[in-house]
Amino acid sequence: MPRLFFVGGNWKCNGSREANRGFIEELNRAELPTDKVEVVIAPMSLHVESVVRSIRPEISIAVQNVFINKGAFTGELSPSAVKDFGLDWAIIGHSERRQIFGESDEFVGKKVEACLRASLKVIACIGETESERKANKTEEVIFRQLSAIKKELTRVQDWHHIVLAYEPVWAIGTGLTATPDQAQQVHETIRRWLASNVNSDVADTIRIIYGGSVKASNARDLASKKDIDGFLVGGASLVAAEFIEIARSHL
Ligand code: G3P
Repeated sequence: MPRLFFVGGNWKCNGSREANRGFIEELNRAELPTDKVEVVIAPMSLHVESVVRSIRPEISIAVQNVFINKGAFTGELSPSAVKDFGLDWAIIGHSERRQIFGESDEFVGKKVEACLRASLKVIACIGETESERKANKTEEVIFRQLSAIKKELTRVQDWHHIVLAYEPVWAIGTGLTATPDQAQQVHETIRRWLASNVNSDVADTIRIIYGGSVKASNARDLASKKDIDGFLVGGASLVAAEFIEIARSHL
């Protein structure tokens, strides 16, 4: 069954009211076949409301992170408040959350489950560091991260509300994009893991997207690979023309 192409734009800690306005004006004018590609943009939390108010309705908005609950957790966002605000998506387990803010595999798994429990859909990020890849531990790391998510999910159908983002840490923000074959190999491995550890329906239907220095210049070659179902884009998602071309890269 064909999987709907998925392109996420992770603005990270970037943007301003003026820059966002210009970006959205260009994106709203763009010819974007939103029946053939699902587009989700994740602004900085501070900008979510203004972006929601002005972006074209076919594009969904995500938060870049949540905590696992509501209450006395200063500075955090609760999954229930994100849903109550009217959003449907959250990025969870981004490597910057893991590397900089020390989020463990277990904590990421609990965050994924907390989002699903609040009826949010999740872009769940996994990926190895340069040293792990050089030590031939990519598979071991990916399987460990996937297992930590699986451990927290109580229902197999929960996987249908997850998009998996394979983001090799060594490719994020470095300009060192994984080659289409490198990315395809890991995506295929992820799909095989899902078939063995969850079920074949989930393995066949889940979108597995690639992130790590995706640009308009390399997106088409990556998108041509059978197990690459889209992208999670960082830097290039801040430039409307670039992001639009990436969103059209599978056509
Ligand atoms: O979440 C996407 C991001 O980590 C990729 O960043 O700048 O390499 O596209 P970038």
